[in-house]
Amino acid sequence: MKFFLDTANLDEIKEGISWGCVDGLTTNPTLISKEMKGDGDFKSLVGEILRIVPGPVSLEVTSTEHEGMIQEAKKLKKLGENVVIKIPTTIEGLKALKELKKMNIDTNATLVFSVNQALMVAKAGATYVSPFVGRLDDISEDGMSLIEDIKTVYDNYSIETKIIVASIRHPVHVRDAALIGADIATMPFDVMKKLINHPKTDEGLKRFLEDWEKIDKKKLRF
Ligand code: G3P
Repeated sequence: MKFFLDTANLDEIKEGISWGCVDGLTTNPTLISKEMKGDGDFKSLVGEILRIVPGPVSLEVTSTEHEGMIQEAKKLKKLGENVVIKIPTTIEGLKALKELKKMNIDTNATLVFSVNQALMVAKAGATYVSPFVGRLDDISEDGMSLIEDIKTVYDNYSIETKIIVASIRHPVHVRDAALIGADIATMPFDVMKKLINHPKTDEGLKRFLEDWEKIDKKKLRF
């Protein structure tokens, strides 16, 4: 299973990469907007992200008509080899997915909330599909059962579109996505950090180090 970070924050990205657990990255207009408050501009922020991330980086278009999406996609693709174009799941989005597939440009169909949407974007040629689990949980639906259903349907028909579990809010989402066999989990930095922390690990390490201190140091030379 691959882990992507869902952020545009350079400090978080650099720290996550140093752990050896980041296979790629996703952004959206909200995440980019959060990082554009200072002096930086879009091109230098994204250029740096594309340079340091060791894998695909999803950048989202903001046009709502397919012609505009394709124009944006062409410009974004020039920023780096590893750019994946994030396209909203609408009828205009389907047209853009189909065109971009013909142009050999990788795409990520975003804002997916149903199995039928996942089927449609796969048929249109999406490289990745991003079902949003947290936002379904927010409205008292079961986000993770959507992942299970998409996985079953994609397996039924040997569909190659890769499932990116998105809108992850906590470590249980990541564990469940892995048990279902989703291809990728994209998560905020704080969720990735929580995956490694365990109070019993901290407690155990503290005890080992305390016991080690009890040994006469002369006996430890080697
Ligand atoms: O990048 C899309 C997605 O991960 C958004 O998450 O928490 O805003 O629903 P969230």
